[in-house]
Formats: sequence, C-alpha cells, structure tokens
Amino acid sequence: MKINGAQKGLVGEISVPGDKSISHRSIIISSLSTSNSIIENLLESEDVKRTIEAFRDMGVNIIKEDNKYFVEGVGLRGLKKPKRPIDCGNSGTTARLLTGMLAGQKFDSTIVGDKSLSMRPMDRVILPLTSMGAKIKGRMNKYLPINISSAEHKLKAINYELPVASAQVKSAILLATLYAEGKTTIKENKVTRDHTERMLKYFGCNIYKEKNIIYMDSNSILMGKKIYVPGDISSASFFIVAAAIIKGSNLIIRNVGINPTRTGVIDVLKKMGADIKVINKKEVNNEPMGDIVIKYSPLKGTAIDGQIVGTLIDEIPILAVAASLAEGVTVIKGAGELKYKESNRLKAIYKELTKMGANVKELEDGLIIEGFEELKAAKLDSYNDHRMAMALSIAALKAKGQSEIIGYQSVNISYPNFYDTLYSFC
Ligand code: S3P
Repeated sequence: MKINGAQKGLVGEISVPGDKSISHRSIIISSLSTSNSIIENLLESEDVKRTIEAFRDMGVNIIKEDNKYFVEGVGLRGLKKPKRPIDCGNSGTTARLLTGMLAGQKFDSTIVGDKSLSMRPMDRVILPLTSMGAKIKGRMNKYLPINISSAEHKLKAINYELPVASAQVKSAILLATLYAEGKTTIKENKVTRDHTERMLKYFGCNIYKEKNIIYMDSNSILMGKKIYVPGDISSASFFIVAAAIIKGSNLIIRNVGINPTRTGVIDVLKKMGADIKVINKKEVNNEPMGDIVIKYSPLKGTAIDGQIVGTLIDEIPILAVAASLAEGVTVIKGAGELKYKESNRLKAIYKELTKMGANVKELEDGLIIEGFEELKAAKLDSYNDHRMAMALSIAALKAKGQSEIIGYQSVNISYPNFYDTLYSFC
C-alpha cells in the first residue's frame, strides 16, 4: 500500500465500524442466553468472524439478515462439542474469552491460533481458571494450542487480584463464573475496559463493582436482548489523530463508543492541545455513545503513565504518531503490556517511526518520543499488526513523499474498510 503526504485536511463526516470488544461479547453472551438476540452494527472483521464461527461450530444459529445479526441463544448448557479445534486466528479476545467459557462445559475442546497468537501468553487465563477447578493444558503450560477437558463438576467461584491489567483475563474469569458455584470477586489495580461487566448486567446477570472490586453471582440466567454496537473508538482514533495533525481538518465521527474505560485517547490528545469535543451523548445497551468533533490544532508533548494507560492501551501506536509530530517530548510509561499484543508494539513503534526520522527511545515499559514538524516517507513494516498498519498509514500522511506500508492487509482484523475511508479524504 502506497500513501502520499496529505495535500489537504480531513473535512466532513464519517462513521467507523462497530466496536471489536463489544462485538465479540455480543456474540458470546447472546449465544449463552435462553432467548434470541438481535445485534446491529456488529463489526464484520476477521477477528469477530472467528468468534462467530466458533459458536456456529458449537451449534448456535447465527444468521445475518438486513444488516442485522440474529442469534438464537442456546442457554448456558446448550452448546455442543465442536467437531474441530476452535481456530481463533489472530484474535486474542476470542482465545482468552472462549477459554474461560469452555472451562465450564461438559465437553472437551481445543483452541488453536495463528503464528502470532500462538506466541502470546495464555497462562494469564490458564492459572486463575485452573484455581477455579478447570482442567486446561497448553503448549509449555503457556501457549496455544490448548486443550480444555470437560468439567466433571461445577467450577468454584474465585477471589482474584489481577496480576496484569487485562480485560481479557477479567472477562475469561467472569465467563467461567457463569459455570461456577459461589460469588466471584476480581480486584483490579489498574482500570481495564468493562464491556463484559456491562453486557452481562444488561443480559440479567447480578454483577456490580465497588471501588476496584467486581462482584459476580454465579447463578445467572441470561436473557436475549437487542444490541446496537457503538462505533469503535480504537478505530476512530486513527482519524481523530489524522484530523488533529493535518492543517485545515474539521471532522465529525458519528456514534462512537465513549465508555470511560476506553476514552483515554481523547483525554491525552486534549492535554496535548487537540481541539476535540464529544457531542450528542446517549446510552445504548448500557454503553455510552456520542459524536466526536475534531479540528486541527498544534500539539505539544505530554506524559502518559498510571491509571490512564489501561484506557488507551490499543491507542498507543497512534498516540506515538501524534507525539512524533508534537512540539517537545512525550514520555509513555507503564505500557509493558504492549510487548504481548499482535506484535511487540514498543519495538515496532520504535523501529518504524525511527525510519521516518522521528527521535524515539524504546524503554522496558514505554517510549520517549521527541516531536518534529514533519516526518520522512519510508518503506514501513506493519509486522502484520492491524493497529501498526493503520498508525503508520496516518504517519505517512504527514511525511514528504510516498511511503509504503508492508502487511497493510492486516487492517482486516479490526477495520476492513479503513483504506476506503482514508482515500475518501485524498
Ligand atoms: C481487549 C482487551 C485488551 C485489548 C484488546 C481487546 C478485549 O487486551 O488490547 O485489543 O476485548 O478484552 P488485554 O486484555 O490483553 O489488555
């Protein structure tokens, strides 16, 4: 994919596809419900297709009609043993959340993934699930493929303090709790996205949070619902940053999810001097949604550390691009988790932005980035990581000359029409 420096600002109105995290959860939770659900604006990307296929393989009828997905819920005990291993492809969310749910089933199952996913840690879910009584064996006790044995008895609820800030781990435990006895508590020392908690509650589960502890009763019955999946703020953030850094931009992005556990990117960009407003706020299926208005404005460097990191963890590649074009220095810390994403994002950002002439230092748990007014065009590697491909594509808009993005096809993981939207501004 070849991208030239932008000649003009981004002006107009767009919408972005449905939120990836909420899309996965809507398929999982509606499949486990005792009645049917209708899902609107579901993200149709490679990752979410993996979750849909997994449930179809377990006997759930999921049909698309008139742009809506109809899910015939089979109830907590209605899934069938899949005839083949569940292939999660590149999707960490499918792998981690399904491991939690499968841990409580009365059948054996196997989970596999692609090369990148097979190198990402699964012990973070295997350990707490094993304490709940699950029988799970992974390659080197740590990686996919993993085999999950049929649960002879109900699982036991758990009191767990999350050792890593991970919504996927938290969600795996909550889904396993649907198959447990007792009350689970999960203590989070760092904020992570709370879509599972919100959706379980919306479907009728007794789940609540006090301070930083989540409480969930195990004897829930889930009832089918109507869901509208808000636009993905992680996908929107590429165009939010593009509009913030390109002169003459004035952009509205409609119906974006603005759950406070996800909006760190807006808070940080505002602190950097970006002109961003959120208007038309409303609530859909227990999730806040609004329109985001962004105008070009010069940015300055900032510090990103502490609680906010969990609320912008997927936006660090694009925030790094913003930082490389801001006046002064940006220091990002407490982001060691980026090493375990679809690529080692700390290394990938450091290597690729350096190729573009930015002054970047890679830290053990973050980055130091000194900003410049303009970047250099270069041949850039996405490491087959969708968020790297999109962040580098936006960086290329602020470079003199033509850049090339290797592995740009990875955008299909979360934002299949990313380049159509990008080209609509060129
Ligand atoms: C996700 C949680 C985050 C995030 C990922 C999606 C989710 O991962 O990076 O893109 O849907 O729960 P971790 O749980 O590893 O932090």
